[in-house]
Amino acid sequence: MVVAPIQLDSPEQLLRKCAAKAPSRLELWVELIQSLSVQRMAEIGVYRGDFAAGVLQRCTGLTTYYMLDPWRHLADWHKPANQQDAVLGEFFRETKAKTDFAKAKRVILRGTTTEVVDQIPDGELDLAYIDADHTLKGIAIDLIRVYPKVRVGGFLGGDDFTRSVWEHKTTFEPTLVFPFAVYFAEAVGATIYALPYSQFCLQKTGSPQFAFVDLTGHYDDLGLRNKFTPKKVFKLMMWERFPRLIRFTSQMRALLGR
Ligand SMILES: C[S@@+](CC[C@H](N)C(=O)[O-])C[C@H]1O[C@@H](n2cnc3c(N)ncnc32)[C@H](O)[C@@H]1O
Repeated sequence: MVVAPIQLDSPEQLLRKCAAKAPSRLELWVELIQSLSVQRMAEIGVYRGDFAAGVLQRCTGLTTYYMLDPWRHLADWHKPANQQDAVLGEFFRETKAKTDFAKAKRVILRGTTTEVVDQIPDGELDLAYIDADHTLKGIAIDLIRVYPKVRVGGFLGGDDFTRSVWEHKTTFEPTLVFPFAVYFAEAVGATIYALPYSQFCLQKTGSPQFAFVDLTGHYDDLGLRNKFTPKKVFKLMMWERFPRLIRFTSQMRALLGR
């Protein structure tokens, strides 16, 4: 009897399959973690521990789950999740309680990426998931400092790969995971995939080759010049300050056919 050789999916085929069927961000990563047989992973930016708890519950093949977060107010982080110390301290306790069932697998690193990331040995991780400070400064630090922690053949993914840099109000810092992560992939020679739910994933390979593979069909402009035009920013600020007036004006213009 001739036994046909088992055809393993390439990373791209695997990502495509998971992206096509996952009904949520959590399910997408659970599928990927299981399909890639990830054993050691890190989550950078843990907040209330919901993602960590969901992954640890479902991905029983995990042996080590690093949870890195300062769980404290950061004076130089202008994003809505930057709460007061008391709130973030409570979120830390909440996270521990939610993941106590996986105590033996969990490694808590309490601090910012630059403060504690080197407690993870280089080449340790099968997967790193970045979901922390999404500003230009934050994503630059996270990608540059976390990448060496991923083994060759391993993956680095993340959240908030939003097409618009204006993920939050204009009073907050813009989100620049996209396009910075694409620039980073080009710098290190990795193939980076845009996934549903504003996720990205790149693979660290021994033979550098950059490509940006958009599995969503939503990412067109890799530049920044159209994202910060005075007209665009002014429009956004008006929407934020006078939503009812702007909505009324738009409706009037639509009625008048202008
Ligand atoms: C969006 S939340 C993370 C959500 C979490 N991954 C989830 O899916 O449930 C962002 C987290 O990043 C953390 N953070 C912000 N700046 C950071 C930094 N410089 N280093 C590490 N973590 C940071 C914040 O404390 C916050 O808990």
